[in-house]
Amino acid sequence: MIVCRTKAEMRATVCDWRADRATVGLVPTMGYLHEGHLGLVRMARETADRTVASIFVNPTQFGVNEDLDTYPRDEARDLALLEQKGVDSVFLPGVEEMYRPGEPAYVDVPELSGILQGALRPCHFRGVSTVVTKLFNIVTPDLAIFGEKDYQQLTLIRQMVRDLDMPLEIRGHPTVREPDGLAMSSRNVRLRPDHRQEAVALNEALDRAVVVAKTGPSIADLETAVRSRLEGSPSATIESIDIRDADTLEEVSGTLDRRVVILLAVRYDTVLLIDQRVVAPPN
Ligand code: PAJ
Repeated sequence: MIVCRTKAEMRATVCDWRADRATVGLVPTMGYLHEGHLGLVRMARETADRTVASIFVNPTQFGVNEDLDTYPRDEARDLALLEQKGVDSVFLPGVEEMYRPGEPAYVDVPELSGILQGALRPCHFRGVSTVVTKLFNIVTPDLAIFGEKDYQQLTLIRQMVRDLDMPLEIRGHPTVREPDGLAMSSRNVRLRPDHRQEAVALNEALDRAVVVAKTGPSIADLETAVRSRLEGSPSATIESIDIRDADTLEEVSGTLDRRVVILLAVRYDTVLLIDQRVVAPPN
């Protein structure tokens, strides 16, 4: 496995592969890898000839009060896991390698970056779209894989690639879950043991919505079903339940007449968990 710490090394590695006409798949991450990330790696390996994983804790997507300094890191463990999973190269740049000082150019998808999570985290999605564009320009992958767990992020990157004619394919990977259904996240270890048990409520609330969707419900009925299961978890603080068009994230109302995505943000103490599910109308 080739570890590249500079853009030049990464470009040279991909250039060698291109000489053999190999296709390249990219899995962007911020490290501290778990089975969710490794699912994306597996998908990349199945789809492309060569797989690159990037590990970069991107400062521009963290707000001033967010956990940049305490974001968990374990480079040695991450590298061992990626090597074991058969990744061909890891891109591991430092902050100075990725950003020059000052106010560099950025990429934004304003229709999507200011809504939902973006309304609560100004500049977050602008930081994501900018760093992902940079990674695409450095690695020049044929395809890149993102998790459906971060549904707004995936939707925004799809729109960015479409609107800016970026020459690659974006694939979404279903959310990878713990055996009891909790979506895998590096934040899960911060949950108190009793909260960890209660946190299955998110997945179970979404399961309920799938059942209710089969009955031809209204959007409000879906929300009621989800909310009532979450309210059965006494320690949960419901930050938001949003039901949106699954492709555009536009607001929806009335009868469930198209694919919608249900987006949950639920807090246990200081730990904010997110989860999502796409549901379709009957037939
Ligand atoms: P990070 O949080 O490290 O996540 C990297 C990728 O793993 C994202 O595409 C995310 O959706 C996916 N992922 C995380 N948990 C998952 C799970 N349980 N199931 C499936 N996929 C999961 O997302 C980022 O980093 C950053 O914003 C990044 C895109 C790397 C840009 O900095």
